Amino acid sequence: MDILQKIEKTKKYILSRSGFKAGIAVIAGSGLGQLKEEFEIIKTIKYSKIPYFAKTTVSGHAGELNFCSHKGTKFLIFSGRFHYYEGHSAQDVVYPVRIMNALGVKTVIITAAAGGINKKYKHGDIVVLKDHINFTGNNPLIGTNIDGLGERFPEMTEIYDLKLRNKSIKTAKKLKIKAYEGVYFGVTGPSYETAAEVDAYRKLGGDIVGMSVVYEAIAAAHMKMKVLGISYVSNMAAGINKTRLNHQEVLETGKKTGLNMTKIIKGVLEDIK
Ligand code: HPA
Repeated sequence: MDILQKIEKTKKYILSRSGFKAGIAVIAGSGLGQLKEEFEIIKTIKYSKIPYFAKTTVSGHAGELNFCSHKGTKFLIFSGRFHYYEGHSAQDVVYPVRIMNALGVKTVIITAAAGGINKKYKHGDIVVLKDHINFTGNNPLIGTNIDGLGERFPEMTEIYDLKLRNKSIKTAKKLKIKAYEGVYFGVTGPSYETAAEVDAYRKLGGDIVGMSVVYEAIAAAHMKMKVLGISYVSNMAAGINKTRLNHQEVLETGKKTGLNMTKIIKGVLEDIK
């Protein structure tokens, strides 16, 4: 079965369970599982029940699709994502993005934890992505192009939508939430960086470093979707502070910062509809 047939089957399954399409989706990353608690949830489908979805293995990632509503705007939250470092192919990582597109989603809000590379940043700050550097050595569009999804050589000049970025920054300012615009430096993980790598990535133009986002953003841009990327600085990257890194810290900062992320997302949702 080819990918378009698989997408069609998955879409049919989800529609038979949920009964609604939506124009907007949010991907909730590490430590942001509670995002869905801030919205009215109409229906939940476990990833494990969805045909052709991979299995999530990371703690802090629920692995479910929530059909939500906010002030009358219906949208989807993909609570949990697939990472390349789990051993999934880059194509499996972006399968949910292809599914949301099939379900009518035109705008995706990608959230993620990240390590702060820019020395101005502090643990807990929010960074709206103005661009990314895909340093993973892979790309989800490698292989025969799926013409039904997008063109062979899609352009990535303004991969993160300028209007959505401005709206996010404005909302943050209004709510007195500290937020920067920065460049996301995408790596495979799962090991955290060495201090020398962090120095190198800063010289290359990265403001934050993380193990997700870039494939999802590329796949979304391939399908001409609008993309907003919002990260929170869960920790300063290796070598910047004296403290050692651990995943628990990432999850704990997510819990604290989650509310601020939610407020920004609410502002954006109210604007898009
Ligand atoms: N490095 C890479 N990915 C991350 C980090 C980090 O320091 N923190 C959260 N995701």
